[in-house]
Amino acid sequence: MARGIAIKKKFNEPEEVMVSALLHDIGKVAMKAKFSQEYGETLWMSEKEGLLIKDAEERMFSTNHAEAGGWLCQKWNFPVNLIEPIAYHHRPTLSKNALFQTEVVHVADNLVRGRGFGFPGDRLVPAVNPEVWEKLSLSQSDLRDLLSDMEDAIQEATDLVT
Ligand SMILES: [Fe+2]
Repeated sequence: MARGIAIKKKFNEPEEVMVSALLHDIGKVAMKAKFSQEYGETLWMSEKEGLLIKDAEERMFSTNHAEAGGWLCQKWNFPVNLIEPIAYHHRPTLSKNALFQTEVVHVADNLVRGRGFGFPGDRLVPAVNPEVWEKLSLSQSDLRDLLSDMEDAIQEATDLVT
């Protein structure tokens, strides 16, 4: 087991969480593909007004990429353990059927954003939901291990494309 991260022990199906983490922002891809001009304006609005991309999306579309991604994944008949982490990764406490998976994707998303990896559509780092943070009860050691594993994974991903 890599670095003994306690959180890994809680998963029965870690692959599902990994897939939902990989796909959590698929709604952005769908919105950009379907509404290219409007999505470009949304990115601009986010930059100009210092908004999180999800908040700029809500102004432009009256919905956001998480809801759009959840809707899309329902249409594709994904299992609920994938749908809810995608649909609720910005509002994890709304998950009814995959709460732990959704909480993990929420925290992972914010850690990756904090690390500055990739471009999520804005230059801000949203706060981790304090209720979720408390519930996961990650120790300093867990967090250090998670960040170290994340750095390794980012390096591996970077090596694949360079
Ligand atoms: Fe997101």
